[in-house]
Amino acid sequence: MQRKLAAGNWKMNGDVQALSMLDTLAQAHNKAQTDILICPPAHLLSQAVARAAPGPVNIGGQNCHHAASGAHTGDISAGMLRETGATAVILGHSERREAYHESDADVRAKATAAQNAGLLPLVCLGESLAERDAGEALAVIRGQLQGSVPENSTGDTLVIAYEPIWAIGTGKIPSMAQIAEVHACLRNDLREMLGDTGASVRLLYGGSVKASNAAEIFALPHVDGALVGGASLTAEDFSPIITALAHS
Ligand code: PGA
Repeated sequence: MQRKLAAGNWKMNGDVQALSMLDTLAQAHNKAQTDILICPPAHLLSQAVARAAPGPVNIGGQNCHHAASGAHTGDISAGMLRETGATAVILGHSERREAYHESDADVRAKATAAQNAGLLPLVCLGESLAERDAGEALAVIRGQLQGSVPENSTGDTLVIAYEPIWAIGTGKIPSMAQIAEVHACLRNDLREMLGDTGASVRLLYGGSVKASNAAEIFALPHVDGALVGGASLTAEDFSPIITALAHS
């Protein structure tokens, strides 16, 4: 059985001073029953790793290239992320799928590279509001899952984050029934794709998770944690979410 996972995505935010939140989290969640991951921008990774270790908070990247090295100006490989001491990487976030036209095949190639480098990929997927309104949400999400997950993934080498695009940074969240429906569907598909180990791939919900809605979301079946953006930037906001997960 995997531990639940509270993951923070800082996006293009944060500076050296902001890393002090790692000390606060470490003190507050010293004996945490959940996994905790903070994904700061790349320039902070090494300092974040040094500051967090040894302790309950793991550090991850927000993207990687699928190649190990080469003429890819501005990119960073999975092995390079691993060399900073990072242990995980967010891949296929909707902001990257949109701004950099990352396809499911791109995300799968990156996730494979991450697994080969010993990083845990957090593969993101989710529908737009237009797709939800058209009744296509499940079809879109299932297609992204099929296309983005590397073959032979296991509960130890893959995390999936369901993030409805319209819920990211908006303060809006789906109904609890909608989240439960998507997570149950993803769980079934993962079992079909990966066999028994599909039951232990952690399924995170992401999109406007806050202290005030976390407990309700974490009580849903097949919700094994959260990928949190805005509310992961300070210990004050993120710590109660970790606590809610630990109590779920
Ligand atoms: P949010 O972002 O929590 O600020 O909505 C979530 C995400 O984009 O991962």
